[in-house]
Amino acid sequence: MGTGWTPSPLVGITAAKVLAFTQARRETLSREYPGVRLVIPAGALKVRSNDTDYRFRAYSAFSHLTGICAQDTVPESVLVLEPKKKGHEAILFVHPRSPRDSEEFYRDRVHGEFWIGRRLTLDETTTRYGMKTKDIAGLKKFLDDGSDAITVRGQDALVDSILPKQKKKEAKFDTFLSELRLIKDSFEVAEMQAAVDATGRGFNDMIKVFPAAIGVERGERIIESAFFGRARLDGNELGYDSIVASGAHACVLHWIRNDGDVRTGDLILIDAGVELDSLYTADITRTLPVNGKFTKAQRDIYDLVWRAQQAGFAACKPGNRFADINRASQQVLAEGLAALGVLPISAEESMKPDSGLHRRWTIHGTSHMLGIDVHDCGAARDSEYSQGVLKAGMILTVEPGLYFHPDDLHAPERLRGIGIRIEDDVLITETGCEVLSKHIPSQADDVEAWMRSLA
Ligand code: GLY
Ligand code: MN
Ligand code: MN
Repeated sequence: MGTGWTPSPLVGITAAKVLAFTQARRETLSREYPGVRLVIPAGALKVRSNDTDYRFRAYSAFSHLTGICAQDTVPESVLVLEPKKKGHEAILFVHPRSPRDSEEFYRDRVHGEFWIGRRLTLDETTTRYGMKTKDIAGLKKFLDDGSDAITVRGQDALVDSILPKQKKKEAKFDTFLSELRLIKDSFEVAEMQAAVDATGRGFNDMIKVFPAAIGVERGERIIESAFFGRARLDGNELGYDSIVASGAHACVLHWIRNDGDVRTGDLILIDAGVELDSLYTADITRTLPVNGKFTKAQRDIYDLVWRAQQAGFAACKPGNRFADINRASQQVLAEGLAALGVLPISAEESMKPDSGLHRRWTIHGTSHMLGIDVHDCGAARDSEYSQGVLKAGMILTVEPGLYFHPDDLHAPERLRGIGIRIEDDVLITETGCEVLSKHIPSQADDVEAWMRSLA
């Protein structure tokens, strides 16, 4: 079987655009850790059942520092930043292409080319991603020399078994890697815009299948499927499980069962994002009238949430605090709920830290960082994130919502069963912000016009 194959080199392989950016990201990391070997694993395949795995998705910091796109990522790759006299050298340990005269080519269902398709050779990887490469087979020997090394634990069993635990240092490393992603470079901003644009196309696809979803058992699934098709066509995957919540399901914040019927006259809340091949994801929510027209009660709440979001956008500027966005949105929501007679106390009273009565109907905060992870920079310190100051280059969501459960006796009857969230993705600029998803209609009249245009 090992004979009779022509060579199959990749022709015309060139350096990826991301290369200049990943080099700069690694240099920032290098400056923080002079003389220390840094080990960042891609992670391993995760079992779905028995001998069947989930599709592989690399550990986010590995993707950030190597720029290797989803299709080129090989499970169990490991990035090592090896200290030199000055700085570090990046070495990617990777499972090389399986040669056609090897057993592996035919028999290895995890690595064999006959099973999973062609991988890059070590040289091709170097050409495309600008890092020195070594066969993963040599990793154990390389790491096992007693050098001072630090890693992200829990991603790679082999790495974990070789490097001694250093709890405090590892936690600090994790934090550093997270904070490295707080400010996006121009490559990342462009990727985020592309992810948002693809997500906008996905919303168009969903609206187009509304008629097919109405009156069909589990119609939410028809809409969910339409978005998944777009995510796979224009990107790598969904950035997270889509929430397709019709009627009162919209009051369930993480409604991912998506097995409800879709009824004309109801609203449908859809929270979905396309993850690109680079792994950057959008995170967009629109709440749409299934039949294209808001009722009076729906519109009252919709307009209030929309105004709360506008107030959130206005707080998105460098120098403001991250928490200011939430506060600005909450203020509008509290005032609106008081004006609608929902809130039994004044907005001012409700906004006091020891009250927060209005939160019964809004529960969650309005913002989180967004990037390779939908909830990006998760290990960043409070001082840099939740209690921190906004800086140009941050990308975050603004996503106020109001939710009136059908069994909520404190909500006016006409509002029960209405759940509304509007979520957009925002880049902090030098002077304020840019709403990357502003072309996806959100103001109520614009939403109705958008739906008419796709009917
Ligand atoms: N889709 C998750 C979130 O909005 O945070
Ligand atoms: Mn979000
Ligand atoms: Mn969301």
